[in-house]
Amino acid sequence: MDQYGVFGNPIAHSKSPDIHHFFAKSTLQSLTYSKLLGDVDTFELQVKEFFREGGKGLNVTVPFKERAFNLCDVVSPRAKQAGAVNTLLVGKNGQIFGDNTDGVGMVRDICENHGQSLTGKRVLVLGAGGAVRGVLEPLRNESPKEIVIANRTLSKAQVLAEHFSQEAISVIASEFDQVTGEFDVIINGTSASLSGDLPPLPESVIHSDTWCYDMMYAKEPTVFLKWAYELGAKGSDGLGMLVEQAAEAFFLWRMKRPDTDSLINKMRADLE
Ligand code: ATR
Repeated sequence: MDQYGVFGNPIAHSKSPDIHHFFAKSTLQSLTYSKLLGDVDTFELQVKEFFREGGKGLNVTVPFKERAFNLCDVVSPRAKQAGAVNTLLVGKNGQIFGDNTDGVGMVRDICENHGQSLTGKRVLVLGAGGAVRGVLEPLRNESPKEIVIANRTLSKAQVLAEHFSQEAISVIASEFDQVTGEFDVIINGTSASLSGDLPPLPESVIHSDTWCYDMMYAKEPTVFLKWAYELGAKGSDGLGMLVEQAAEAFFLWRMKRPDTDSLINKMRADLE
């Protein structure tokens, strides 16, 4: 049976095996997918060993996405922009190919599952770490009017703004409390939700049609989503992003596009 897996550290909490086994069943693919505890000293050797033993594909999660990028022989353009990969596959010649499906997964969740167009919109992105870097290229491809990146550490937002700014789409860096004007879409890519913190944004960023997205998900709305809902905005957490990035990886490996709606609904119900 074809072998797949996900490397991370920690990895016990990963839902990826359940997701990929669900996809395999629904598309009649015969495969196994395991959780693999990455070793911070020998991660690269572990990956090479996995492929040497005949493994077909890997996902990579925290904290190895940048290291995975560096070990690839070839990377996709979107992975190059992200500077990180979450999906690896091996060619017939043994070359390791890396891709990043996080951004396309998020955009697909926002645009297709939630029906929110980003084209021509003012988009505010919170955070300037790896998670945000990973989604900026697919986000920019939707042709928003403007992207503002707000971060606690301004210099990190400035680096990203400079890297992703284009003639057609301005990408601007800001501190949280300096963000001005109303936004159509606000995406939280900080890990502040994990510690229950709320980025100190002015309430004026939200208007009655603002749509808010948190890349994190939990049973209860995150502090960011609670704040947005109280101000009258609508939105979603990132459960669908998790499923969509996996679906894109599954497509790269198996050339089959699994249905994601039923799995998102099932996982949502399981959270309750
Ligand atoms: P990830 O891979 O999740 O992006 P990361 O690269 O460590 O992890 O980035 C974490 C992001 O969350 C950063 O933008 C970080 O802000 P700084 O660049 O100023 O460190 C942001 N972040 C983490 N905790 C936060 C908090 N309590 N309030 C606001 N932003 C926070």
